Amino acid sequence: MVALPSDPSVPLAPSAPSHSLWIPSLNFDIVFEDLHYSYPPLTPDGEPVRALRGIDLRVEQGEFLALMGRIGAGKTTLCLALNGLVPHATGGVIHGDVIVLNRNTKTQTVADLAARVGLVFQNPEEQLFHMRVEDEVAFGPENLGLPREEIARRVTWALRAVGLEDFRHRSPLHLSGGEKQRLAIAAVLAMRPRILVLDEPTASLDPRGAAEVFATLRELRQTMPLTVVMATQNSEWVAEQADRLAVLDRGRIALIGSPDELLSQVERLQALGVRVPQVAEAAAQLNARLGASFRFTRLDDAQRALADALS
Ligand SMILES: Nc1ncnc2c1ncn2[C@@H]1O[C@H](COP(=O)(O)OP(=O)(O)O)[C@@H](O)[C@H]1O
Ligand SMILES: [Mg+2]
Repeated sequence: MVALPSDPSVPLAPSAPSHSLWIPSLNFDIVFEDLHYSYPPLTPDGEPVRALRGIDLRVEQGEFLALMGRIGAGKTTLCLALNGLVPHATGGVIHGDVIVLNRNTKTQTVADLAARVGLVFQNPEEQLFHMRVEDEVAFGPENLGLPREEIARRVTWALRAVGLEDFRHRSPLHLSGGEKQRLAIAAVLAMRPRILVLDEPTASLDPRGAAEVFATLRELRQTMPLTVVMATQNSEWVAEQADRLAVLDRGRIALIGSPDELLSQVERLQALGVRVPQVAEAAAQLNARLGASFRFTRLDDAQRALADALS
């Protein structure tokens, strides 16, 4: 257990929404404590670039936390801080702490963290280097120095977990965008991380590919105790799957709460550069025109609320 600071103002996690299997436990896999971070100056006589300005955030074991916010808000930097690339690879100046699975990232190497925190990036092409799908997945466990049989077991398991077991002898080049991204997920899963961090994993995919990735995430979370942090612009999927949403703005957490609660605040979110789900916009328009008080962020909720209202 992480030693909890005595500050009673630290908000506890909300109760889990009905569409999630997450059961609040107050076991924190991730704790950010007053995290400030600046990248090194971009020019020799330039200033450091402030990217995070006092992040306090706890993520529970098994929770799915979505990160939203406009470009430059600090989502990627926060993701990179979780596996130590910030600051170990990026340099720069860090204050405050990032505690991942009870260990401070300051005292951990990126290699150690990589086995516990799987990181998936926006562009799958930049994460796939091997000639065959199965080699891509074997790479991480090989680097962990695992025995051959264990590597083989993990490759089969990870490919099955993302629904790519029939593709193991193919070249990653011949996969669709959604399949490539599922392969990138399998490649990190094979290291058996407790935490999966995805930085805009569907931004370069078509809607079908995005749906595949989200369906995979849903299945993974139903079969293993995975904590997920995902930066995304896709509010429909956030409403559908995330337990909590943090909206970043200029390196700070501007809003945090349940997706239902936050994504129905259309104007407030638009001011923070976040597009809300279409049904939430529709609710706001109905409320403005009819004086109604609809609040829905998912299609199924919208259908139910409208059917109730009409009957
Ligand atoms: N490698 C870098 N060097 C200097 N500044 C950076 C670097 N990467 C990001 N930044 C800056 O840090 C801030 C946060 O960026 P980032 O975390 O990428 O935001 P987001 O992912 O929300 O778009 C921005 O001001 C951005 O310009
Ligand atoms: Mg980013």
